[in-house]
Amino acid sequence: THSSKNAIENHFESSFELETILEKRVKRQLLEDIQSICPNDVTIFHVRQKHALGLGHAILCAEPIIRDHPFVVLLPDVILDIKNNNLSAMIDNFLTYGRNQILVEPVSEDDIDKYGIVDINDDIEGGQCSKINSIVEKPSKENAPSNLAVVGRYVFSSKIWRLIKSTSMDNSGEIQLTDAISQLLNEENCEAFKIIGESYDCGNKLGYIKAFTKFCLNHETLGEEYKKFLNTLLT
Ligand code: G1P
Repeated sequence: THSSKNAIENHFESSFELETILEKRVKRQLLEDIQSICPNDVTIFHVRQKHALGLGHAILCAEPIIRDHPFVVLLPDVILDIKNNNLSAMIDNFLTYGRNQILVEPVSEDDIDKYGIVDINDDIEGGQCSKINSIVEKPSKENAPSNLAVVGRYVFSSKIWRLIKSTSMDNSGEIQLTDAISQLLNEENCEAFKIIGESYDCGNKLGYIKAFTKFCLNHETLGEEYKKFLNTLLT
């Protein structure tokens, strides 16, 4: 996190005052909703990234907490439908075979230069994996090894720490996770896990709007009304 982004820390914090008010006013549903954000048996640690030196550096800031455990990286601007269980399947693969896992999704040619892109041999379906031969950060479509983009979920062994530390800054002064992964390929197996379903990249406005619409349409209590509303706009 960063000092300018304490909304993230606050979101997971319990608010004693608010909970007491809701309890007194017998607002059970609201009370349950806010308590479910961070269940009592979950402890959240935050680490501040003092300087904006890129994704690789941001992740490295968590090393003192994670140390020699395997771990998951979730980039929260990429939203997935939890029903597809992509991340659980990736974790199972890691625990069963000990291979690092990277979630990938085919993207259009015009979007290739917005993502890390992998090269694999096999033609895989959603939910299947294939060994990564190479990975490159935001290549031009002419230089890209494929159209399979890295979409914000990774499962790593602790080997990655040393490799992030030895990664030099790129031209924009950032330490890229992708460059460290490229080194990891020489030491350990890394697999591309092809997404089941699709991801929503909320790092751009259209992706955010699509995510909002998709999840709102599927919403248990709001979905039907939202659909009617959308239909009035479309007819
Ligand atoms: C980062 C990674 C990139 C990955 C993308 C997924 O880029 O560096 O490899 O494909 O996230 O969203 P960023 O979106 O931070 O530019």
